Amino acid sequence: MADRFLRDHIQSIKPYEPVIPIDVLSKELGLPLDKLIKLDANENPFGMPPSAMKRLANLAFGHIYPDPEARYLKRHLSQVLGVPYQNIVVGAGSDELIDLIMRVILGPGEKLLNCPPTFSFYSANGQVNNLDVVNVQRKPDFSLDFQGIEQAVGSGAKLIFLANPNNPDGGLIPPEVINELLSLPVMVVMDEAYIEFAQGYRSLVSEVMQRENLIVLRTFSKWGGLAGLRLGYGIFPEAIAAAIMKIKQPYNVSVAAAEAGLGALDDLTLLNDRAEQIISERKRVMLRLEKLDFLSPYPSSTNFILNKVIERDAYQIKQALAQRGILIRYFNTPGLRDHIRISIGREEDNNRLLEALEALKA
Ligand SMILES: Cc1ncc(COP(=O)(O)O)c(C=O)c1O
Repeated sequence: MADRFLRDHIQSIKPYEPVIPIDVLSKELGLPLDKLIKLDANENPFGMPPSAMKRLANLAFGHIYPDPEARYLKRHLSQVLGVPYQNIVVGAGSDELIDLIMRVILGPGEKLLNCPPTFSFYSANGQVNNLDVVNVQRKPDFSLDFQGIEQAVGSGAKLIFLANPNNPDGGLIPPEVINELLSLPVMVVMDEAYIEFAQGYRSLVSEVMQRENLIVLRTFSKWGGLAGLRLGYGIFPEAIAAAIMKIKQPYNVSVAAAEAGLGALDDLTLLNDRAEQIISERKRVMLRLEKLDFLSPYPSSTNFILNKVIERDAYQIKQALAQRGILIRYFNTPGLRDHIRISIGREEDNNRLLEALEALKA
């Protein structure tokens, strides 16, 4: 059998479960694409920003390898963020950067600190890299167990990933806890994939320059409406950025992704306005969800709302919505038993979702 050639730890990995593509789902459910409402992967419901579409329509250099530095995009990001060019690295989604960070910091068997429930790719990718994934479970309200983190750092964990706001609950880490975390001898990766939806909360981007143990990750997938093009970036201490530039695939960011990213930056005002609309829809949806006796929604600073399902079968609710063409995410892992996560869509999508949920009342 060919599997005898495989590395042992690869054989034991359970495959990562990504969401099913929308065209595949449309066939499986027997519903036309335009009848589906995709609220299962926290994508941007308004689509790609117009300047990105225009740049893609006029793409001239698809036959030429991309710039390994993605320098135009990095220059633009450097201006927008107010951080030096050499502290930025662009990747094929923040997923790629998560992998690269693990690879420059930890060797096989070294300890990666993970705080579930959280973005499952951290531990999945830790396993791919044959790391010792040390899980310090969050408290029932999804806040961090700081003492547990301190102990894990004391026992040798060198790297911790924290989504802020967190996926799947949507909560933020209080600033005083961030200060405490940063005082520990551990490299802290703050994954700010949803920060644009956290009203009034300050990003840690500018802090990176003041510290040696902080990395901030950002993505164009959520706020930027470019999930399908795969584009993310990180702000790193200079030595870490240089190490990642050394090991990354030379052409990791495609010509199309880099152009679309520049387009998104041309459309900053529009994208911020769309984020505002999502925030105000989130508030409206939250009020309606709170009225349903079988759901208990958690406060969210993101473009999604996590709900605990009470005295009903969460999986059946997900299925009942899918029959109506509304796709949401269902969880049944420790800390997330009987939970569903609903992304915020456009007003008309949210209305259909709310009507469908209200029709499910016992
Ligand atoms: C917390 C968090 N980080 C990163 C990602 C991945 O982002 P990207 O599309 O940039 O790889 C996600 C996607 O759901 C996420 O929830």
